[in-house]
Amino acid sequence: MPETVTLQVTRYRPEIDAEPVFQEYQVPLHADWVVLDALNYIKDNVDGTLSYRWSCRMGICGSCGMTVNGEPKLTCATFLVESVPGPIRVEPLGNFPVIRDLVIEMGDFMRKLPRVKPWIVRTDEKPLAEGEYRQTPEQMDEYKQFSMCINCMLCYAACPVYGLEPEFLGPAAIALAQRYNLDSRDGGAKERREVLSTHDGIWGCTFVGECTRVCPKNVDPAGAIQRYKLTAALEELKGFLMPWRAR
Ligand code: SF4
Ligand code: FES
Repeated sequence: MPETVTLQVTRYRPEIDAEPVFQEYQVPLHADWVVLDALNYIKDNVDGTLSYRWSCRMGICGSCGMTVNGEPKLTCATFLVESVPGPIRVEPLGNFPVIRDLVIEMGDFMRKLPRVKPWIVRTDEKPLAEGEYRQTPEQMDEYKQFSMCINCMLCYAACPVYGLEPEFLGPAAIALAQRYNLDSRDGGAKERREVLSTHDGIWGCTFVGECTRVCPKNVDPAGAIQRYKLTAALEELKGFLMPWRAR
């Protein structure tokens, strides 16, 4: 194994760069170093001006997503040795505006997410004295997979539809809507349907499946969208055959 590896890192400092440029850094190559370790090495020892996000270093916070050798990745979970002899190219996530260097602006997702009401909606509450709302393991299994999302935005970076149609709600927002639709305690499916069953919602998805392929938490947003398409189509049919139910 070589002692060092070259990182080609996107630099974009809006006050001096008209457009992003690549800068090369030589970093030590250790078998247990991930790409984030290399960026931290550069920040601490070579160039303190390099900007990027990270927090937990254990695949939980979702903040360290970047494009590594052309693929959306969590940099805290991508080992340098996967890419020897290099060079390793590190860029900001695609499909998002870049604020600085490797830092993207994800306000679009933050604005869209509340539209699908990613919380439990109830019209009636039982008295506290009756205790908590309990679920069986089977009921929890229905939505658990979708609750693993860490909002890392890798799926948006990989989605060709989001790249072309910025109004598309996108994979994670729809998967998170399904997380609540499938929760036995929730009663908000009808409200969410008004947002989800639209061209900018599920019907915009062309089922490329890249979102599911790149998801580091095995959420399967593509599966969530296809499953919801079936639900929405059945609801439409019921509304047509039994219009009194749709009211
Ligand atoms: S669905 Fe997966 S890839 Fe998309 S934001 Fe959630 S964890 Fe990240
Ligand atoms: S630093 Fe938190 S997910 Fe990578």
